[in-house]
Amino acid sequence: NGNIITIPVVVHVIHSGQNLGVGPNILDEQVMSQIAVMNNDFRRLAATPGFNSNPVGADTQIQFALAKVDPNGNPTNGIDRVNLCQSAWSQAQIETFVKPETIWDPTQYMNMWSVNFPNGSSILGYAQFPDTNLAGLDPIGGEYYTDGVVARYSTFGSRDYDTNGSFALEAPYDKGRTMTHEVGHFLGLIHIWGDANCGTDYCADTPTAHTANYNCPQNIVSCNNPSVYEMVENYMDYTDDACMNIFTIDQKSRLRTVMDNSPRRLEL
Ligand code: ARG
Ligand code: ZN
Repeated sequence: NGNIITIPVVVHVIHSGQNLGVGPNILDEQVMSQIAVMNNDFRRLAATPGFNSNPVGADTQIQFALAKVDPNGNPTNGIDRVNLCQSAWSQAQIETFVKPETIWDPTQYMNMWSVNFPNGSSILGYAQFPDTNLAGLDPIGGEYYTDGVVARYSTFGSRDYDTNGSFALEAPYDKGRTMTHEVGHFLGLIHIWGDANCGTDYCADTPTAHTANYNCPQNIVSCNNPSVYEMVENYMDYTDDACMNIFTIDQKSRLRTVMDNSPRRLEL
């Protein structure tokens, strides 16, 4: 067990000229609700809805704070609103244009993007893996100018913090767990089914799972042991936001390995 690590975050809110609070130009409060969810989930705080008391559940001792200083040394609220004059973005366009255009030094900040994906796209979000030599992450990482996590604006933040019903969130992905999941990848975690039938995530305390689970299924028996159920409540499954509530001790050790043993990027 090490120290508590606080990761400075910049959230790039990518819009196309909407007024504040309209469509992808999400409110500061919606952005802040996302940071609150990540802190609840990664620190295993009792504020986490459905707080999980499973003994393998971990406080990862990693937390997040919106940046207070921008790359030029000026004060910031950590929210970077950018009108890129296009209403929706494909993943390829995000990688080649949106990210390089807007990224803050990824050795100093975790970059998060809230975007609108094209109509018909079913993706909620995605992440770039770290450049850390961890089992299952080889080849690893990516370019420094694409480092970070991306989510659809309608999954960014949590309804639990929406006091006047003004957040643009879509159930069942309306509790901020898309970014909890993506930040898990960003810090080295693999899906609990190991992206293969009964594959491995290199974490012995997440029971081996057949495949991704959706919704919130009960009593799915694991691959190796019929008396053990798949951990559908793990943030690294594909279940509904309200279903998810745990990172394990072994997942924590992967996260901490990434934070403790390597700078995020060497090639800057
Ligand atoms: N990358 C995954 C997807 O786009 C994220 C799944 C997140 N799950 C959730 N309950 N928010 O499907
Ligand atoms: Zn994933």
